[in-house]
Amino acid sequence: MKRSVLYLLVPVAMLAVGAAFAPAMALGDPAPGAARLDDGDGADAPGESPPCKSKEFKHAIVKKACTEGGQKAAKKAMKGFVNAAKKATGEKITCKTCHSGLSPDYALKPDAHERFEKYAKAIEAAP
Ligand code: HEC
Repeated sequence: MKRSVLYLLVPVAMLAVGAAFAPAMALGDPAPGAARLDDGDGADAPGESPPCKSKEFKHAIVKKACTEGGQKAAKKAMKGFVNAAKKATGEKITCKTCHSGLSPDYALKPDAHERFEKYAKAIEAAP
């Protein structure tokens, strides 16, 4: 069920962490998340992305992005998710639909997880 959503979003997450991650993985980087990888947009030097505040994740997409590239990667993954969700539902969705605040805490609204699931299902069901 969730897999097709992942197929949609994994490329987004991969973009977020950049091609730089692939060689790092091939080398068997022992500490994912310890090395901050350039996402290729030239804006972030290694070490610039703060780690995610969340220690426990309900959504694999966010967990993957956070462990691989910190908040910066999570942001990109979430942007991809929001775009896909907008297309799938026709609803107006912004980061503030689920987050009461953004950087640095990204506090969640009470219904954020529920919405996330709902949108993930909509994306999955979209043609
Ligand atoms: C559908 C609801 C929803 C929307 C819309 C949404 N988010 Fe999220 N976001 C979440 C949830 C839920 C989590 C926690 C993930 C988990 O528990 O696995 C999260 C986590 C994050 C995190 C990780 C925070 C941390 O440090 O732990 C970042 C960064 C983030 N979101 C950025 C964004 C940005 C930027 C946008 C707009 C482009 C956005 N989110 C839109 C629901 C949403």
